[in-house]
Amino acid sequence: MKENILVWLVLAIFSFSSLALGGPPSRGKWKLLKRSIGISAMHMALLPNDRIITFDRSNFGPSNISLPQGKCMKDVLSSDCYSHSVEFDPISRNVRPLTILTDTWCSSGALSPDGILIQSGGYRLGDRVIRYFKPCLNCDWEEHQTGLISPRWYASNQVLPNGKIIVVGGIFEFTYEFIPKTSTSDKKLYQLPFLKETRFSGEIPNNLYPFLHLSPGGNLFIFANDRAILLDYMNNKVVRTYPVIPGGISRNYPSTGSSVLLPVKLSPNTKTSTTTPNAEVLICGGTLPDSFQKSMVEIFLPASRSCGRLMITAKNPTWEMEEMPLERVMGDMILLPTGEVLIINGASKGTAGWNGARTPVLHPVLYSPDAPINRFQILSGSSIPRLYHSTAHLLSDGRVLVGGSNPNSNYNFTTLYPTELSLEAFYPPYFDPTKPRPSITAIMPGMLLKYNQKLSIGFAIKGKLGNIYVTMVAPSFTTHSVAMNQRLLVLAINGVQKNANAKNYILEGEAPASAALAPPGYYQLFVVHEGVPSKAKWVQIK
Ligand SMILES: *[C@@H]1O[C@H](CO)[C@@H](O)[C@H](O)[C@H]1NC(C)=O
Ligand SMILES: *[C@@H]1O[C@H](CO)[C@@H](O)[C@H](O)[C@H]1NC(C)=O
Repeated sequence: MKENILVWLVLAIFSFSSLALGGPPSRGKWKLLKRSIGISAMHMALLPNDRIITFDRSNFGPSNISLPQGKCMKDVLSSDCYSHSVEFDPISRNVRPLTILTDTWCSSGALSPDGILIQSGGYRLGDRVIRYFKPCLNCDWEEHQTGLISPRWYASNQVLPNGKIIVVGGIFEFTYEFIPKTSTSDKKLYQLPFLKETRFSGEIPNNLYPFLHLSPGGNLFIFANDRAILLDYMNNKVVRTYPVIPGGISRNYPSTGSSVLLPVKLSPNTKTSTTTPNAEVLICGGTLPDSFQKSMVEIFLPASRSCGRLMITAKNPTWEMEEMPLERVMGDMILLPTGEVLIINGASKGTAGWNGARTPVLHPVLYSPDAPINRFQILSGSSIPRLYHSTAHLLSDGRVLVGGSNPNSNYNFTTLYPTELSLEAFYPPYFDPTKPRPSITAIMPGMLLKYNQKLSIGFAIKGKLGNIYVTMVAPSFTTHSVAMNQRLLVLAINGVQKNANAKNYILEGEAPASAALAPPGYYQLFVVHEGVPSKAKWVQIK
């Protein structure tokens, strides 16, 4: 409990010093949205209709919610009349049970450019299945049994500039492939020895669920264990090898840290030149390589506080190391609409895997990438531990949905860290009631954007016009501390004018110039005024 005392001490000093400056800054707040959605939210995705789709593994036996209309699924061994996936409406808090037939345990996914959730792989009979979920009123999962060439358990996905989804790795799978399979290049399997090379131990890989980020040049940044490459996936060629992240900490499953591509800042295009922006990756937390083995004999090693930040587009990049105020393994890193990074969930001791962790970290931390110093801030804590198999996702109203945690091999409500069926919302500090929120009144020419197109965004604010910018966020598929396909672009602005109506402004901006900057698909568009984001409007770029 030493850590908790330290947290409170830090908070007390922090609150005291800010009180002296006239009122404490908001540290955000928590709200329980639903005590039980019937399943533990192991995987989570947001659809363009603002519904959350979440699912667990599906061979767990009874969950706490039945299949719709008294349905049961039968396999060779038994009959299962329970749901393992639900649709959740974060506004009404309605839960709708869905039907998944094959096992989705530790699988991957991404929202396709046309707004369909495409989920891939899982366990045993589910490990080559591709499942589709369309955002409509009474839709349910559709499963395609032979969707993948190789079995994919613990793989990661990313949407590419050509609209295809790359699926990378999996346990003992040192390859990648593309889905959905429509062209001849999709029907091939591509070798990736890097995935074998970063598996230092036969027993404990520490390189599963690799971190993938699309670099603004169009190549794929892949991080596994403690090292990274840049892959030209079309030509199956490693074009760069980055320096090893210092410190001897493993960052991928089961030593699970987390990773984000920091906001990609776009500048106006001139007629004569388009500049490729720089891009930085931030990786935080994780633990020592043998933490998993130690946890098997009830030794729970302290998690790491370290973060590494790398300019992946620089000529000779080096890792800039920073220290979080709290240790964390199994944290989720979520890009907020402001471009700040929320580090949330996880534990301060142990590792991912069943019963592998102790001392939940209840306080999220906010990271401000542009702050010259003091980039970290400890935020208000929850009372619910979110350990292995927990998730988080940005909602369109700026809240962060938090769910899951099932560090047990079954649903178990009597163990040290019970299976958690609840969903909470975290309200980041920008929900401070003293800070008025801007609102988007119009996007011209409309919600369907073309690359490099001029945009006019109407917005309303209270008070004087201050610092303003526009962000576009690609919704992620989140599981095991990896927010696949998460991406935030800060759009180029050419000017802001006052409208005839004194409260309204028109911002002249530009849509991203290319699909390498913003792969085709749906994005949440936010106007941020004085550090406070509007609610999002969904746009689609293609
Ligand atoms: C799950 O269902 C069981 C049996 O109906 C019930 O006893 C238990 O309270 C439920 N647990 C939760 C967390 O909802
Ligand atoms: C839950 O976990 C406890 C402690 O490990 C164990 O004794 C119990 O049998 C488990 N219950 C179920 C239903 O698995």
